[in-house]
Amino acid sequence: MQVFGIDIGGTGVKGAPVDLTTGTLVGKRTRIPTPQPSTPAAVTETIAEIVARHGWHGPIGVTVPGVVQNGIVETAANIDAGWVGLDAAAALSDRLEMRVTVLNDADAAGLAEARFGAARDESGVVILLTFGTGIGSAYLYEGRLIPNTELGHLRFKGQKAEQYAAGRLVKRDEMEIDWWAERVDEVLVYIEELFWPDLFVFGGGISKRFETYSHHFSTRARIVPAALRNKAGIVGAAYAASIGAEHG
Ligand code: BGC
Repeated sequence: MQVFGIDIGGTGVKGAPVDLTTGTLVGKRTRIPTPQPSTPAAVTETIAEIVARHGWHGPIGVTVPGVVQNGIVETAANIDAGWVGLDAAAALSDRLEMRVTVLNDADAAGLAEARFGAARDESGVVILLTFGTGIGSAYLYEGRLIPNTELGHLRFKGQKAEQYAAGRLVKRDEMEIDWWAERVDEVLVYIEELFWPDLFVFGGGISKRFETYSHHFSTRARIVPAALRNKAGIVGAAYAASIGAEHG
């Protein structure tokens, strides 16, 4: 079965059809820079363009970088505030004339890693964290997702964990990767104290370089890099649409 997956990020909107027996992309993914400002109207046209380029007609899963309940976007930390309160599932379904499922970006990545990737054989508690513009989180138990955890918004040392240790700090502020990794470790240890996962999955663009900084991590739980890398959002979005996991 194939479903189209779309991943809305702070800098790019990416999409491709996904083969859901293997969890792989069918052909090349399309990436278009996220319109600025990233209003719902502008991003919707970008999505329409990506879907049209693939000549797709069928179900679509879409990730957004915010809390999503029953198709409605409830928060928008790293995307235009115009998304908040929008029934994105209904609006996108109307515009595209296809059935659209909308969910949080990190939740999508978590579902993808649990079904096809680094957490595939894990039956215990898994916490996936994505380090990018912000810090996203997915919380899974026995492969089932508890949606909309926002662990990047935990208060840590007087600020949000994602302000303290997001992946973007490495690029934007030229923070040394070792210094950043030590900060990440502090956050991981704090999260472990509260949730006691069996496995952490480390995601986001910076997970490509996992081996160069993972020696800084000191959690008791195992910690592994995400396997699907920058495809996890697309694959998870498509998978969520296929199982009707509309978070709602
Ligand atoms: C948002 C989350 C999102 C994460 C990664 C955070 O700022 O609140 O919903 O998953 O960024 O994009």
